[in-house]
Amino acid sequence: MSNLKALKGNVVFTPSFGEYKIVKNGYVVFEGKNVVGTFESLPEEYSAAEVVDHGDKLIIPGFVDLHLHAPQFANRGLGIDKELLEWLKVYTFPEESKYQDIDFAKKAYQNFVYELWKHGTTRSVVFATLHNESTILLMDLMDKVGLGALVGKVNMDRNCPDFYIEDTQKSIEDTESFIKATIDKYENIKPIITPRFVPTCTGELMEGLGELARKYSVKVQSHLSENRGEVEWVKELHPECSSYAGVYEKYGLFGGDVPTVMAHCVWNTAEEMELMAKNKVFVAHSPYSNLNISSGIAPVREFITKGIPVGLATDISGGHDVSMASVIAVSAQVSNMRWVYVDENYKPLNTPELFYLATKGGGEFFGKVGSFESGYEFDALVIDDSSLADVNERSIEERLQRYIYIGDDRNIVERYVAGVKLEEPKF
Ligand code: GUN
Ligand code: FE
Repeated sequence: MSNLKALKGNVVFTPSFGEYKIVKNGYVVFEGKNVVGTFESLPEEYSAAEVVDHGDKLIIPGFVDLHLHAPQFANRGLGIDKELLEWLKVYTFPEESKYQDIDFAKKAYQNFVYELWKHGTTRSVVFATLHNESTILLMDLMDKVGLGALVGKVNMDRNCPDFYIEDTQKSIEDTESFIKATIDKYENIKPIITPRFVPTCTGELMEGLGELARKYSVKVQSHLSENRGEVEWVKELHPECSSYAGVYEKYGLFGGDVPTVMAHCVWNTAEEMELMAKNKVFVAHSPYSNLNISSGIAPVREFITKGIPVGLATDISGGHDVSMASVIAVSAQVSNMRWVYVDENYKPLNTPELFYLATKGGGEFFGKVGSFESGYEFDALVIDDSSLADVNERSIEERLQRYIYIGDDRNIVERYVAGVKLEEPKF
C-alpha cells in the first residue's frame, strides 16, 4: 500500500447531476491513479496513507473542458464582430495556417498549455490544426506538464482557402499516421479523429475517417448545428440527408460504437436529438462562443431530460475565457435567459447541476473522470478561497459558488491528474 495518499480538507463533488456530496474537514484517499473513497475520518485500514492537510481549503474534482481549439489561443478576444462563417474565413483559418511553422507552434502551444494548467483544466478535448508535426508537439507539451487530453489533427478538404486545405487521400493518410504515432505514446493523452465540420469535409473524407475510427477504436469530435448560416449551408450541401446530424451518421461519425462529442448543438431538430440520445453523442456546451459569434442559446436542460450526455466547454477562441469556472457562471446566465425568452418549459440550470457538467458530465467522455467516487481517476484541484471570505459565515456550498463566480486562477493552489500532482510548467 505504498502508493496510498490522502488529501484532507473540505471535499466537494457531484456524484449525480445537481447533487453535491460534501465531506467537511474530511479525506479523499487515492492509490496510484485512482480514488479509493472519501471519508469523514481516516479509516484504520488507510492509516499508512501519506496525508497532506489542506486545512479549511476546498478540494474539488479537476475541470473538464470538452471542446477548445489550441491554435486559436493567441486569437482570444479578437474578431468577435462576425458570425461563425465569416469569423472562420477572416480570423481563424489564417491563424491556424501558421502552425505549419514548428517554431511558431512551439511558442504558442507552450503559452496555451501553461494557461490550461493555471486555470485547473485537468482534462480537455482539443482541436489542433491540419499539421501532424505541430499537433504531436502539442501532445508532447501537454504530456510533459501532466495534463489529460484527447487531441485531434484537424481534417478539411473543401470550402477552405487554398493556403489551408488538404487533398482528400493525403488527409486520410496523414490521419492514420497521426493515430499510429500517438495512440500508445502517452498515458493520459490520446488522439481523437477531428473532421472540422460538414461544410469543410467531403463525403469521401468523412467516410475514410469513419473507417479509421473503427479500425483503431479512436473517438470522434466535430461541430454540429452551431449557427444559423452554417445549418442552412449544410442543408444545401446535403439535400440527401434529413438533418445535419444525419450527415455525420451516414459516414459513421456519430456515436454508437464510436464515442463522439459534438460542439455547440444550438439548433438541433427533434429528430437530431433522438439520434443523439440513441447514439449517446456528447454535447460540448460552449456558451461564451455562442454569445460572441451570435450562434444562440443551446437547450441544455432539454438535452439532459432526453438522456443526451452534456459537458461544458470554452471553445477557445470562439469563447474568449479559458476558465471553466467562468464557463459555469455564463452557462447559468444563458440558461436563465433561455428560460425567460425562449422556452419556459425547461427551468434554468443551477450551480450544482452546472458543476456536475463541468466535472463528471464532461469527464464521462474520458471514462471514470470528474468525481471522487471509488475507482475514478484522481483529478483534483485544491482551492484556497480565503481571499474571498467576507463578513458572513458561509457554508461549503456557498463558498464553492462564490469561488466559481468571483474567484479566479489565483485561488487554485494545487492540481492533480490521475493521482499525480502537476508542478508549474517551466518550458
Ligand atoms: N465550426 C467549424 N470550425 C469552427 C471553429 O473553429 N470554431 C467554432 N466555434 N465553430 C467552428
Ligand atoms: Fe469549436
